[in-house]
This record gives sequence, C-alpha cells and structure tokens, in this order.
Amino acid sequence: MSKHILRMDQITKVFGKMTANDHVDLTVRKGEILALLGENGAGKSTLMNILYGLYKPTSGQIYFNGEPVSINSPLKAIELGIGMVHQHFMLIPAFKVWENVVLGLGGRVILDEAAAKEKIRALASEYQLEVDPDARISNLPVGLQQQVEILKVLYRGSRLLILDEPTGVLTPSEKVKLFQTLRELTKDGFSVIFISHKLDEVMEISDRVTVLCRGKKIGTVDTKDMTKEKLARLMVGRDVVFTVEKTASKGSQDKVLEIQDLSVKGRRLASTIKHLNLTIHAGEILGVSGVDGNGQSELVEAITGLRPVESGKVLIDGKDMTNRSPAEIIKAKTALVPEDRKKVGSVKSYNIEKNLILRDLTNPAYCKHGILNYKALEKTADEIIQEYDIRLSERQSPVGALSGGNLQKVILAREIKSQPRLLVAMHPTRGLDVGAIEFIHKKLIEARDAGAAVLLVSAELEEILSLSDRVVVMSGGRISGELGEKDITMEKIGLLMGGEKLGGSANG
Ligand SMILES: Nc1ncnc2c1ncn2[C@@H]1O[C@H](COP(=O)(O)OP(=O)(O)OP(=O)(O)O)[C@@H](O)[C@H]1O
Ligand SMILES: [Mg+2]
Repeated sequence: MSKHILRMDQITKVFGKMTANDHVDLTVRKGEILALLGENGAGKSTLMNILYGLYKPTSGQIYFNGEPVSINSPLKAIELGIGMVHQHFMLIPAFKVWENVVLGLGGRVILDEAAAKEKIRALASEYQLEVDPDARISNLPVGLQQQVEILKVLYRGSRLLILDEPTGVLTPSEKVKLFQTLRELTKDGFSVIFISHKLDEVMEISDRVTVLCRGKKIGTVDTKDMTKEKLARLMVGRDVVFTVEKTASKGSQDKVLEIQDLSVKGRRLASTIKHLNLTIHAGEILGVSGVDGNGQSELVEAITGLRPVESGKVLIDGKDMTNRSPAEIIKAKTALVPEDRKKVGSVKSYNIEKNLILRDLTNPAYCKHGILNYKALEKTADEIIQEYDIRLSERQSPVGALSGGNLQKVILAREIKSQPRLLVAMHPTRGLDVGAIEFIHKKLIEARDAGAAVLLVSAELEEILSLSDRVVVMSGGRISGELGEKDITMEKIGLLMGGEKLGGSANG
C-alpha cells in the first residue's frame, strides 16, 4: 500500500480570466498533518473545494489510497473518506447536535436515534470532544459548534479531514482543545489538511507545509526545518516585519465618541452591557480587549445603530446619536469594519466595484439623478484594488467570487478610505495573510494620524498591544479595567480579562 493517502496531480482550475490553481501537486501521508499556506487569494480554498467535490477541476487527477478517483460531489468525497469543515459552519442552529450529525446521510441509513446518539457519545469520548448529542446548536459556543462539525466528519467514517482556517474564531483555550483532538486523530492514523494564516500554529501543529503562491505550488517543506520567518518569506517572497512601527498619539482633547451610562440587552447574559462609560478622542486608537462574547459585539452594534440602546447615550462629535439608524450614523462620518463580513459588510448581489463604493452610492461624484457614473466608479475601484492589492479576476465579478481575505480587504479599503471621524473596526485582520496584516496595521495608524478616533476590537492580544494608545478590557458586559499607553502589557490585560481588578494602578 502507498504511504500516501492522497495525491493531487497537476490540478488546474480556471475561473474566467483567473487561474486559481495552476498545475498544483499535493500529497498527504497517512497520519500526518499537512499545513496549506499561502497569501490571500493564493488558491487554498479552491484546491480544497476541488478535493471535496464542490468544484470540478479544469484538468488534473486525484488519487486516493493509490487509486485514481473522480470526486464529483461532496457525497462522493464522504463516501471515499474525505471530510471538510468549512470556515463558515454548515450547521442548522435550530436542530440538536445528533440531528445535525446524521443530517444529509440521505436514504442510505434508516434513522435509529438511540444508536446514532450512542455512536456520537463513543466518538466524542474517544477524541476528547465535549459534545452532548441532545444539545441545541444555537446554544453552543463557537468552539463546541466546531467540535460538532468535526464529529460529523468522523461519524461518516472519514480518514482525511480538511480544516479551512479552523482557528480564526476560537478562543485560546478552544484552540488548545482542537489541537489535542487533532493529535489524537493522527495517532489513530487519520490525516489532516490544515489551512491557517497563523504561522505560530502552523509551526506548532503541522508535520509538513505546502506553500502556494498565486495559484502555483512553491514547494513542500518539513516543518521541523522551518521558522516562522522562513515560512513568511517563502509565502510572500520578501521579509515580513512582525512588529508595528508606531509613534505616540498626539493626544488631542477633542472627544469624538462619548458613551454615557450605556445599557444594551445582549445575545447572552454575559454579553449584556451594563452602565458602560467610554470616551475616544480624535487621533487615538482605543483597543477593546477581552474574551469574545463579553459584550464587544453588542457595544459595536449599539454605536453603529445595529442594536437598540436600552438606556444611556451615544454621542458622536458631541451630537446625540443614540438609537439612530445606521444610515444617519454613517452620515455622521462613522465607518464600520463589522464582525460578519458576509451578512453586514457586503452586499452579495452587488459586484466588487459597487461594494467598494457602497457608502458613496448617493455621492454626486458617482451618482447624478439616480444614474451611476460608471467611469468614475471604475476609476475609484481600480485605484483601491491597486493600493490594497486585492486579488481578483474582474471588478465586475460578484463579491462571492472573492477569497475570504480579499473580501475582508474590500471592506477595510472602503471604510478606511471614507476618511471617517470615527472608525469602528472589529477583528479587522481576521483571515488576512501576514503581509496583508502588516499593511492594514499601517493603514489603521495612518487613519489615526489623520485625526480619526479608532475603536479597535480584537481577539488578538498582539494586535491590541501593538496598535492601541489606550486599552479597555471587557468582561461580563462591563469594562473591567483601563490601561494607559505605558501600562499596556500582556499580563495586565490577561488579569483584567478574567474580570480581576488591578491594584490601584488603572487610570480610569
Ligand atoms: N467561484 C469563483 N469565481 C471566480 N473566481 C473565484 C471563485 N472562487 C475563487 N475565485 C478566485 O480564485 C482565487 C483563489 O481563491 P481562493 O478562495 O482559493 O483563495 P485562498 O487561498 O483560499 O485565499 P484566502 O486566504 O483569502 O481565503 C481568488 O483570486 C478568487 O477571487
Ligand atoms: Mg480561503
């Protein structure tokens, strides 16, 4: 028997003018974790979608267990023993865990609820998944939902597991659990393909790394011969600076955002905002840190008109904007990089150029008497695409054709370019490659230096540390502490995240 469970041979995929995969070879050994690395738009998701039967390759051949196979649907992939966990989970929230797990098995099984639950429990205990078959998906935190996705794959008897950016939405402790599970699985001979932009993770969990660049395979290396810096260089073809250069904020007294005694009903009890006060000045980046789900989303939604305020006030540039519509808040020169780029950040049925000027569709420069000036539109779109290095085949493609990271760049470019007074950025670099993160960090500091007040919500401590002029930490819907520029350290933020009070030092 071949030691390779999978061999993808000279895979090519063409979308219109874009060659997303250009004669790519990839092999996976039995019991290994292969990381797939590459810049935004390099072709990683496309290659995996081909392997999972979602796209038909333009040319090339796949061998599974040494046999040539034709994978023309996910059902066929599952039948062969290939499972995929997408970045955006495919679970049905109103259904229970066990229902989601057996869903889609089609007419091949006669449903035996008790047996299904028993099998789920056995798999869960074998691979340290804390999944209760009777729990409802909508009540589970993201980390557990991901475990259900993995269980779903195992339940179907898969031997090869594809994970597309699985850690983007996980808390640090959820990530530790995921890695434990992956190690257990490989011990039992399972193979894993792991896509991530986080080089530390790739170094920690993978055995080998295959690097793609603009659709082509650059090479495959043993992880043990690599460092984070070497991987970055392989990937983007130059050295990447992992630290941010930032001068101190000029310290204006000009209050752009003032939040007074704000209370907002949350999605959960822990995220309900209680009597929160906050001020951000012009030319300042305020970092909001904390474990996800402690009121950060609700805070952002209340400021931007996406969630009702129960009591208290939101002032922008001194004007009361409490409970105003998102359109009015945009008019007050507020920009938003939202948490959910698909639902809130972009209009699916619009093409890329329209999404790029979405904020300005009624601006006379682009629209007179209800008629769009396509020349002006295209010019602006081209400039932005160039500056932000957005990789796409055509401006006119729907945004759905963009890779995850490139869609994020479209939203970031549009919002930062609008020259906002207040820029609210939630997880701005989630899903971006290391080179793009470096660029976006520069842009956020530029926006600050141009006088914007920036509210930066991020789950990445390093991002908070390197960009913020001031940090507040949220815990249970309250601000558990504030740190001035000189006090911002990993340790102090960590303590505040747990809801602890710092001994007398905080300046708020
Ligand atoms: N359905 C499609 N139609 C047209 N072009 C597409 C389609 N799917 C992907 N592409 C293009 O193929 C290229 C590769 O995209 P892919 O999603 O594979 O990138 P990726 O490596 O996963 O990037 P990211 O890290 O940003 O997720 C991109 O330029 C993308 O715009
Ligand atoms: Mg992708």
